[in-house]
Amino acid sequence: MMSIGKAVVRTDGRAKVTGQAIYVDDLRPEGCLYGATVRSERAHARILGIDLDPSFDWTDITVVTAEDIPGENVVALMTDDQPVLVDGECRHVMEAVALVAAPTRERALQAAHRVQVRYEELPVLLDPAQAENSPIHIFGTDNVFKRLVIDRGTSTGMGVVHKATYHTSLAEQLYIEPQGMLAIPEKDGSLTIIGSLQCPYYIHKALKRVLGHSRFHVVQAVTGGGFGGKEEFPSMVAAHATLLAIKSGRPVKMIYRRDEDLRASTKRHPAIIQITSECTPEGELLSWDARIIVDGGAYNTLTPVVLSRLVLHVTGPYRIPKVHLEGVAVATHTPPNGAYRGFGAPQAQWAVERHMDRIARELGIDPLELRRKNLLKDGDLTATGGVLHDTAAFLVLEEALEAARAPLLQRAPPPGAGIAHWKRGRGLALAFHGCGFTGNGESWLKGKAALELVGSDLRILTGSTDIGQGTDTIFPQIVASELGIPVERVSMAPHDTAQVPDSGPTVASRTTMVVGSVVQSCAKKLRLALQAETGLASNNFAELLAARNSDAVLKVEHVYEPDASIRWNDADYSGDAYPTYGWSANIVDLEVDPDTGEIRYLRLVTATDVGRAIHPVLVSGQIEGGALQALGWANLEEVVRDQHGCMRNDRLTNYIIPTSLDAPEMVTRLIEVPYAAGPFGAKGVGELPLDAPAAAAAAALEQALGLVLDDLPMTPERVLLAMERGHAA
Ligand code: MOS
Repeated sequence: MMSIGKAVVRTDGRAKVTGQAIYVDDLRPEGCLYGATVRSERAHARILGIDLDPSFDWTDITVVTAEDIPGENVVALMTDDQPVLVDGECRHVMEAVALVAAPTRERALQAAHRVQVRYEELPVLLDPAQAENSPIHIFGTDNVFKRLVIDRGTSTGMGVVHKATYHTSLAEQLYIEPQGMLAIPEKDGSLTIIGSLQCPYYIHKALKRVLGHSRFHVVQAVTGGGFGGKEEFPSMVAAHATLLAIKSGRPVKMIYRRDEDLRASTKRHPAIIQITSECTPEGELLSWDARIIVDGGAYNTLTPVVLSRLVLHVTGPYRIPKVHLEGVAVATHTPPNGAYRGFGAPQAQWAVERHMDRIARELGIDPLELRRKNLLKDGDLTATGGVLHDTAAFLVLEEALEAARAPLLQRAPPPGAGIAHWKRGRGLALAFHGCGFTGNGESWLKGKAALELVGSDLRILTGSTDIGQGTDTIFPQIVASELGIPVERVSMAPHDTAQVPDSGPTVASRTTMVVGSVVQSCAKKLRLALQAETGLASNNFAELLAARNSDAVLKVEHVYEPDASIRWNDADYSGDAYPTYGWSANIVDLEVDPDTGEIRYLRLVTATDVGRAIHPVLVSGQIEGGALQALGWANLEEVVRDQHGCMRNDRLTNYIIPTSLDAPEMVTRLIEVPYAAGPFGAKGVGELPLDAPAAAAAAALEQALGLVLDDLPMTPERVLLAMERGHAA
């Protein structure tokens, strides 16, 4: 009955591959209107007026502005700086100024074009490097959303110094299903909000403030990808659809077009990371100083938490006796950046791994040996003085090296590629990733889950959503394995705030590890409850069930209990920043056309410590999908902006992401170094795959062309430019 470690059929698979799955845009309630958003065309301006074109027929159109908000005009998240609709002053291009709803989507879009916004332009700040000292104030008096310093000693003055600056670029999460939300006014005066989302309770919390009441519930529709992009942004989409539904008295559906989604939604935070390191002539690290600037965009959103995770990963998986880390997240008049899978850690480890390659190059040491010399192991201290356990850095490294010894697959080259003059290279990069919320986050969150016995079957109640990663398959596996019953007897309750408790958001590589352990505790509690009810001491679930005299639904609930071995001091940022870490080694083989700068990935070997592979196929899929996203970030994806900070390449034809045709051969090895408090030893693995492949690609490019690229993305144009400038190693 133990289904842990088995590739059981994923519960959402059949509906998705047969087209039966119901996404929000498939829902068409009676009388449904379609919503559209009127957006600012300026980065910073006073709104002088919002006019309805008198030549347009407005009779069947609902128009909403900030004045129609019954509660507070705020998207509640961390700080209350972001409005639901612009009131007086817009602070970034594509900011929502007004809303319209119409009987058809076409009419809604036409109406949105006929809402004319009059602006008085105000001074604009777009450059994050200028933000702190700018006379233009977006947030506070210094445009600083968050400053974070970790100081555990500075340079010894006795080592070899290496110093360089690394840049990472904006990137779009690019869920295949765009943002979408449906708000339905019910007969009893309540509201139902259904949509594409990661965190039903984030939306619940935000809507309560906008509406001034809580007579509504939030339901997750089948969701076509999130990657962080459906973490905080859907709160705003939900508020917009709800405001239109209230004013019109009709269901209102808002589905973003791709171009609107790309231009308006959050992106990965770009970062400027300067590292000054000091090591012995043999390459043993002595000290590490990192200065980080992160561009948060015009509103705070989750930026302070992204900065925190970035800083906590900017020493990489290496042992460094003295560290001084200083991060600042600043405001600019650009659309807010937000959650994207990895949440700061990919930016950090791009810089770390490029810097390790720099040290190796300048000292004339093999980059692999340099890493071996400094890699973290059990008992070592992290940058915050936490003591490591369950460490798998060496294991993943050796596993990846072993796997990479196999010859490359011989595949027919695509037309025009693989010609003799293409140059081949191989690169290595390592990463670690803190699992779950940072610091005491989980203790504050107190994630809850519940489990119901209905007849002889079980139902799991959790606010954790399945966004394609497999939660709705993995949680039943955990319960079934704990109780020793077939997985088919365990189902999931709908992810509906009216039915399920708040398990905390579906983010931060926490769902399997943290919420999964709460779900496992529910199963244990249910067994205890059955033992109490039947008076049987048996651990056998079938026996307990048979001894039951009642058909009543038996329900148990459990709240997250912090891992007692974890110590964290939020005041001085010391201790165990995370309960445990996942570890990853990546080896990229690629070839590059020196005439065009085009890169073709040949193979990606990954070895990843997952603690315990609850579902090996799903977890391998997570790793391969995430790694391909990282390879796209490396050399394909580039956000091009106009003078207002608006994304110009807002189509999938010019914002290019890798498809299966661009995917290399993937060799995916799983390592299991269990985390005692995770369910069956599982660690979080959702974000780790994003952390290292880009740096491995850069190292491979360096080997192929002798070019050192320290900035993302490494598009063909930038590769060529670097060759022209002679950035030779
Ligand atoms: Mo996230 S980037 O959904 O923690």
